[in-house]
Amino acid sequence: MDDGYGAGDIGSVADRLRAAKFVAVLTGAGISAESGVPTFRDAQSGLWARFDPRELATPAAFAGHPKRVWDWYAERRALAARVVPNAAHLALVAIERRVPRFALITQNVDGLHARAGSRALIELHGNIARVRCSGCGRPADRWEEAAATGADVLPPRCIHCGAFLRPDVVWFEEPLPQDALAAAEDAARQCDLLLVVGTSAEVYPAAALPRQAQAAGACVVEINPQDTPLRAYADFWLRGRAGEVLPALARAAWP
Ligand code: APR
Repeated sequence: MDDGYGAGDIGSVADRLRAAKFVAVLTGAGISAESGVPTFRDAQSGLWARFDPRELATPAAFAGHPKRVWDWYAERRALAARVVPNAAHLALVAIERRVPRFALITQNVDGLHARAGSRALIELHGNIARVRCSGCGRPADRWEEAAATGADVLPPRCIHCGAFLRPDVVWFEEPLPQDALAAAEDAARQCDLLLVVGTSAEVYPAAALPRQAQAAGACVVEINPQDTPLRAYADFWLRGRAGEVLPALARAAWP
């Protein structure tokens, strides 16, 4: 296990990237940090400073405080619409165009990979731009934000069944979309190189993918300025910001 990012490491990983038949990538909130989207580990700012995302992104939180959860996601939805993909997102698009087979598995719900142009995209935790009914499950493509008449104003309701609308994302304790998880596990088992970018690798089942890939013979590379549980077994750790390391890696692989 390497002890951190050095020019030599990036050269070794670039050689493997260039030779790879199937490159898979697993991303977390860290890849969007340089676009201005706070990670879950960053202390929440402003109004949300007193809440831990783990207390907001749960079915119990929505049941108990539907407006608080709806408003937190409405604010994050507006932020995601305001920011743009950064050099890391764009470097993954460039890599996808260069390798024979590619799969991008993201835990992020901000939609930035799709906006950057990534095609083979698996959204494990849903997408914050999508809203669905918490009752009948129908997607809602438009809704009337209830008139802001005070703190007790509740989220918009489904026009079909009257239940509250909710963000179409996966909350803690909720199952992941089965098709997305199956596709992600297939990619982890079949790839020969897995880049793990900007995730604390603490939330399962996404955090199990790197070990599944390595057990199936893939080379596992972590890209993160901090160490994570992957440090115990990843083949390489390119220590740095995704917006710096991924473009450097793509340039080193295809000068
Ligand atoms: N480049 C690369 N990595 C970065 C950067 C950066 N510029 N900035 C921060 N990081 C790293 C942090 O060191 C941390 O390891 O990104 C990681 C972010 O970790 P989390 O905030 O825990 O986000 P993530 O791993 O995506 O969380 C997983 O948990 O909250 C749930 O469903 C939510 O999808 C989320 C899941």
